[in-house]
Amino acid sequence: MKKYDNVFIFDHPLIKHKVSILRDRETGMKEFRELVEEIATVMTYESMKDIALEPVEVETPLEKTVQYRVPEGSVAVVPILRAGLGMVNGVHRVFPTARVGHIGMYRDEKTLEPQEYYCKLPDGIEDKTVLLVDPMLATGGSACDALSALKKRGCRKIVFMCIIAAPEGVETVAKAHPDVRVYAAALDRCLNANGYILPGLGDAGDRLYGTK
Ligand code: PRP
Ligand code: URA
Repeated sequence: MKKYDNVFIFDHPLIKHKVSILRDRETGMKEFRELVEEIATVMTYESMKDIALEPVEVETPLEKTVQYRVPEGSVAVVPILRAGLGMVNGVHRVFPTARVGHIGMYRDEKTLEPQEYYCKLPDGIEDKTVLLVDPMLATGGSACDALSALKKRGCRKIVFMCIIAAPEGVETVAKAHPDVRVYAAALDRCLNANGYILPGLGDAGDRLYGTK
C-alpha cells in the first residue's frame, strides 16, 4: 500500500496485544466491549496530540501558576452507528464533556454501499475538533460519507479513528479526505468477497452487541 502522510498506523506492543485478544473468536461480548473502549482511550491520546490548549491560572497549595488546558466544549465525538458507539466511552475517559453526534450508516450487503439512516450533530460542531470513530474501515465507503456529512455541516478539524483498517479503505479515505488524519490500531491484509476485513475480527457491531 502506498504511504499516505495523513494515515497513522499504531506500532505499540500493548495495542498489538489488546487487538490480538479482540480478534480472537473466543473473546466474549463483555471483554470485547471493554477492549474496544480501552483501545479507543489510548488512541485518543495519540490522535489528539496537537490539540490547542488555552492558558489558565491555577492556585496550587503553594502558589499561583499559569498552566494549560483543553478549552471547554472544544471537542466533539461522532460515532458511526452502530459499532462506533463502542468507542465513545473510551473517548469520554479522555474528554468527559465532549458532546456526542451520531451518524447512522449500514452497508448494503450486496453492493457494500453505505446507506445513511440517521444524522444528529451537536450545535456548534463546526467550531470543534471532531473525532469521528468506527472500529472498522473496510471499503471506506461509510467513513467517506460520514466525513462528507461532517464537512457539509462546516466541520474543518476532523480526525478519524478506527481499530482495524483494510488497505482498500485506507486508500479511499486518504485520497478523498487528504485533510483528515486517519488513525488505525492495525492495518490488515485485504477484504474478502463479502467486504469483510481479513484477518479482521468479524462483524464489530454483532460482537459488541451480541446480535449474532
Ligand atoms: C460496519 C462498520 C463500519 C462499516 C465499514 O458497519 O462498523 O461502519 O461496516 O465498512 P465500509 O468501510 O465498507 O463502509 P455495518 O454497516 O456492518 O453496520 P453496523 O455497525 O450497524 O453493524
Ligand atoms: N464491518 C465489520 O464489522 N467487519 C468487517 O470486517 C467489515 C465491515
